[in-house]
Amino acid sequence: MQKSTVSSPSTQVWSILGAGAIGGLWACCAQRSGCTTELIFRDQSSLAAYREHGGIAFTANEQTELLNIPACCPQALVQPIQQLLITTKAQQTLTALHAIKDHVQPDAIMVLLQNGLGIAEQVQAQFPQALVLQASTTEGAYRPKPFSLVHAGRGQTLIGAAVLPTNIKDPSQQLTDIAKSLSYAPLSVTVSENIEAVLWRKLAINCAINPLSVIHRCRNGELLNKPEAMTQIATVVDEILALSKALHLDDNLADLHQQVLEVARATANNRSSMLQDIESGRETEIEAITGHLCRLAAKQGLSLPCNQQLLDEVRRISTQNRS
Ligand SMILES: NC(=O)c1ccc[n+]([C@@H]2O[C@H](COP(=O)([O-])OP(=O)(O)OC[C@H]3O[C@@H](n4cnc5c(N)ncnc54)[C@H](OP(=O)(O)O)[C@@H]3O)[C@@H](O)[C@H]2O)c1
Repeated sequence: MQKSTVSSPSTQVWSILGAGAIGGLWACCAQRSGCTTELIFRDQSSLAAYREHGGIAFTANEQTELLNIPACCPQALVQPIQQLLITTKAQQTLTALHAIKDHVQPDAIMVLLQNGLGIAEQVQAQFPQALVLQASTTEGAYRPKPFSLVHAGRGQTLIGAAVLPTNIKDPSQQLTDIAKSLSYAPLSVTVSENIEAVLWRKLAINCAINPLSVIHRCRNGELLNKPEAMTQIATVVDEILALSKALHLDDNLADLHQQVLEVARATANNRSSMLQDIESGRETEIEAITGHLCRLAAKQGLSLPCNQQLLDEVRRISTQNRS
């Protein structure tokens, strides 16, 4: 295979597709560190509204400042995109990418920083020469209103490639350089030797908490006080462990049940993003979370009745909500 001549990531500007909470967080931290990124808004009207606002009002450590981050939209793109950080919700990724596909360089570096699984493979299929990486973060950010952003909780970000690419020179150095170039203070991005396991564990935790927070209409911590929800959590985890075993992804998952309960405790006051999406009439990430899990199980000839029931129920609530 031909060796790529991708430029050093540190010398390139990151374009950020998905100017929401996480995309805005990376862009604001970059701007405050004196680095340039470019936010890609959905369309001309959202770009105009952003410009009218004068930037993003970014709050961190109880201090707010207006940051005027360079921005564009698919119709206004002029420069080719060599480095793309994708921070849309999972189900929005392919549509968002389609609108900018002619500007993305064939050998671009693309980092998917989002929850859910199954999207990276589709992106790689559409951009076969690109270096497609996945990242998972426990940073917390939310938008109290349009163009306002709060960095609500500090966390960690891990990045890696499910399969280390063979078409680039020194892929592990390349990964280290990419992680460094996305580590805008105070954000810190670290290379994971096993991103697949990181993403799988995150998926499992999301499968156990997010749909149940929707079905029981409660904050994460309230699940711990509901006997029915506690039984459902235990069953969801058991089913995921059975599937993990079949997929040989069960290394170091013995504490999964315990960890789900710890995450629910640590985020007790949070309304999960899935519940927030339902309450705002938005599409949820259920298809990339529990949907992905159930599709994988079906391919293995396994059925996950509890997860399937949660999937059906969230789909039903979501359709009812959005009609
Ligand atoms: N927020 C957190 O604390 C957090 C923490 C860990 C992981 N995550 C994960 O990170 C990912 C992003 O979450 P988020 O909270 O940042 O979501 P978000 O605030 O909804 O941001 C998504 C952004 O993508 C934009 N978008 C959607 N379709 C688009 C299109 N076709 N073209 C261009 N832009 C488009 C949305 O634009 P509009 O505003 O116009 O809809 C929105 O600005 C999710 O997978 C989430 O689960 C989030």
